[in-house]
Amino acid sequence: MTTEELEQLLAQQPIALLHRLARGRVQRHFRTGKRRLIELLLRHSAENRAGFESDLLALIGERTARPAAPPPRPAVQPARHSAEARRAASAHQEQEPHEPAVTLQAWLEGIGVPPPQPFVPDPWQEDALAKLQTGDVIVSVPTGSGKTYVAVEAARRAMEENRTVIYASPLKALSNTKFTEFSRIFGADRVGILTGDRRDNGQAPLLIMTTEILRNLLYDAAGGEIDVRLDTLGLVIMDESQYLADPERGVVWEETIIFCPSQARLLLLSASIGNPHDIADWLTSIRSTPCHLIKHSKRTVPLRAGYLHPDGKLTPLFRTLGIPHGHPGQWHPEAKRLFARYEDETMPSGRRR
Ligand SMILES: Nc1ncnc2c1ncn2[C@@H]1O[C@H](COP(=O)(O)OP(=O)(O)OP(=O)(O)O)[C@@H](O)[C@H]1O
Ligand SMILES: [Mg+2]
Repeated sequence: MTTEELEQLLAQQPIALLHRLARGRVQRHFRTGKRRLIELLLRHSAENRAGFESDLLALIGERTARPAAPPPRPAVQPARHSAEARRAASAHQEQEPHEPAVTLQAWLEGIGVPPPQPFVPDPWQEDALAKLQTGDVIVSVPTGSGKTYVAVEAARRAMEENRTVIYASPLKALSNTKFTEFSRIFGADRVGILTGDRRDNGQAPLLIMTTEILRNLLYDAAGGEIDVRLDTLGLVIMDESQYLADPERGVVWEETIIFCPSQARLLLLSASIGNPHDIADWLTSIRSTPCHLIKHSKRTVPLRAGYLHPDGKLTPLFRTLGIPHGHPGQWHPEAKRLFARYEDETMPSGRRR
């Protein structure tokens, strides 16, 4: 087969067959359109042209040999064991009386940039800042709630009292982002960064670093060899502090907390600590000041779950606008139909459940 013939043959195939061919060959192939997928497949075929053509022909053969409509299964066949039977069962369910499923239009409504409004801190944000006056603070609130505001205001207040501030994050990329953000807020001369890749303005009153670098600094301080002054340290902010539970890196967070100078306040931020009370109790037991917990679980930005089919069709994943609690079976009928089709088209018949 010439490359041109191969390209033509690929172009004649349904996209589902191309996705099957791409499995294990092309990464993230579901994200590409048909034309791009053919390009990628052709590029890949150069590695083992004969094997590629044989796989393609086998898939085409399998497809044409497939009966147009599967024979009906005997009644004793367990309903859950085939895609067709599942579809039949779900079609039956659809006939049951149900609240009508949310439409895509309703599901998408309201997504976008809200009109500007004056900034008013939330009560929990004020509370966190007030509690830092008397001890350490753990802020455990959902993602997107505004933990950065607490970090920024706490840093501002500490610097106004001529104390230095360290902001520790688990990732170099997050450290870089915060360096840019805090430099814009406080001025470039007041913010420095220390990571494995980058050292800028190390004498600044607000230093951003990865937690590993902070732990090493505290080790050095414990051994009497430090290159950053810790006696003026007023505040240590540990973002993404759920890393305490990380099997490999958690020990770094633990040691950082244990070695943190007693005159500095600790501010731990996280959206996903499961047992913040226990962590607050532990901090209270090992530190010279009590640890206060600021916790709530109300999402400022509600989550909506959708299903994006490889053919580009988007539908709500559930019948409801939000994510149902306690009724995970409330799939949106269109999502269910598309998923069954996807399974039918892509799973080799032997692997279908
Ligand atoms: N009180 C508030 N009123 C309105 N918007 C706020 C308030 N506090 C913070 N925000 C805005 O909420 C958005 C999310 O804030 P932020 O990035 O601090 O969230 P976060 O809690 O750190 O989330 P993550 O867990 O993803 O790190 C930002 O655009 C911020 O400006
Ligand atoms: Mg954050």
